[in-house]
Amino acid sequence: KRGYIVNVTIIGSGYVGLTTAVALALIGHRTRVYDIDNAKIEGLRVGRAPFYEPGLEEALQAAQANLQFEYEPSRAFENADVVMIAVGTPPTPAGGANLGYLYTALRDLTEHNTNHDVLVVTKSTVPVGTGSNVSAFYEQATGRTPLIASAPEFLRQGRALADTLYPERLVFGTRDPRALTLLRELYEPIISQTFEPPAYLPQPQQRSTVPAIECSIESAELAKYAANAFLATKISFANEIANVCDLVGGDVQDVMAVLGLDSRIGAQFLQAGLGYGGSCFPKDTRALAQLSNREGYSFKLLSATIEVNNDQRFRVIDKLERHFGTLQGKDITVLGLTFKAGTDDLRDAPSLDIIAELVSRGARVTAHDPVALDAAGKMLPAHVRLCSEAQEALKGADAALLVTEWPEYRALDWRAAQRSMRHNVIIDGRNALDHHLLAEIGFVYEGVGRVG
Ligand code: UGA
Repeated sequence: KRGYIVNVTIIGSGYVGLTTAVALALIGHRTRVYDIDNAKIEGLRVGRAPFYEPGLEEALQAAQANLQFEYEPSRAFENADVVMIAVGTPPTPAGGANLGYLYTALRDLTEHNTNHDVLVVTKSTVPVGTGSNVSAFYEQATGRTPLIASAPEFLRQGRALADTLYPERLVFGTRDPRALTLLRELYEPIISQTFEPPAYLPQPQQRSTVPAIECSIESAELAKYAANAFLATKISFANEIANVCDLVGGDVQDVMAVLGLDSRIGAQFLQAGLGYGGSCFPKDTRALAQLSNREGYSFKLLSATIEVNNDQRFRVIDKLERHFGTLQGKDITVLGLTFKAGTDDLRDAPSLDIIAELVSRGARVTAHDPVALDAAGKMLPAHVRLCSEAQEALKGADAALLVTEWPEYRALDWRAAQRSMRHNVIIDGRNALDHHLLAEIGFVYEGVGRVG
């Protein structure tokens, strides 16, 4: 039986904040979520999640007794033993991280917190050195040295709760023994994996003790950027091998299957395609490159990773153009708009750049997405036709361009599509379709690093 119940306040009800709050409430802590966005808080009070994430609504329900939602700073920090900052750190135009929300959070905290021994934990992805700035800010505002730690988050969208409850590792960035004790108490059920796995979530593979790495705040802050930069580099590497495959013949998926079985390399994040998007990799790779530059170090590998990724989105358009000579007046159907399957998120989605480029090269674009069509409507050029049925979207098209690997595209009746399209060209930007089948039906198929 577990011994500790901690009073936690989490500032920010975005992906990281809300998921962390729900997970901590599920394992028994008294958890409060504070956000300055009244509407979000009101929604959460009636069980409405502000974004789509599998299992989240069930978990909100299941953890209800331990959860409280607050937009009044005067009530947000009452009795809090631990305050976690999980606000957004959006990119600045120069590629750094905008810490405006973080400092607003800190101001609210220092003005309203009454527990002098509160532990302040940064969960947001922040540039190295932010921890000590947070400490200085706190000291200046309150005249006291805070207990402080950095505990970065590694969850993926679409698997956020499972990643939080069954993590591969935890990071406790602090040199303060009191802070460490509190963090260990807070995470004890997760470290020992002694809670009942919720039935509505993907079940954990195996449940052994979760390692918690204890290190300095700076190491913890850097580890978050380093992990994302490394994963992004794996993707760009796979994409470059795919580009070589295109030139010399070869199938990137076979090549990566060989690499992936080497446990020193690992099979994940070697999926070639049109590059990474989303709210994390593009932002965090740029922020780490900028941080290094600022210190006078040029992070060459990371610059190349970013450059490869930027180019990769346009290679699929070049492929398309080569089939027709020109895209002027061609009807192109874009399949998938979100930055990956399983999420409704369009932040830094390759589809947005790709569609803008198609339009600028004179193509007439029809777009389909199973979940993000309405949101996309507000972000895409006005004359892009949005279509809520994939089969319908393909009617009369000269070519299909697959941008997001939604399973329904693989399962589509491509024979029917073949009959309704004007030309039978498919560019599979995610290598997600059955290329043998498509070639057999009569499509001219081109993936990334593989042909039909
Ligand atoms: C990513 C990391 O995977 C998380 O560990 C991290 O916590 C998170 O960023 C964050 O910093 O908050 P996420 O952005 O949800 O998570 O999405 P991923 O599943 O990592 O995918 C990122 C992008 O890479 C997507 O556009 C995806 O399509 C692309 N990708 C991924 C590939 O092109 N190839 C691959 O093999 C894998």
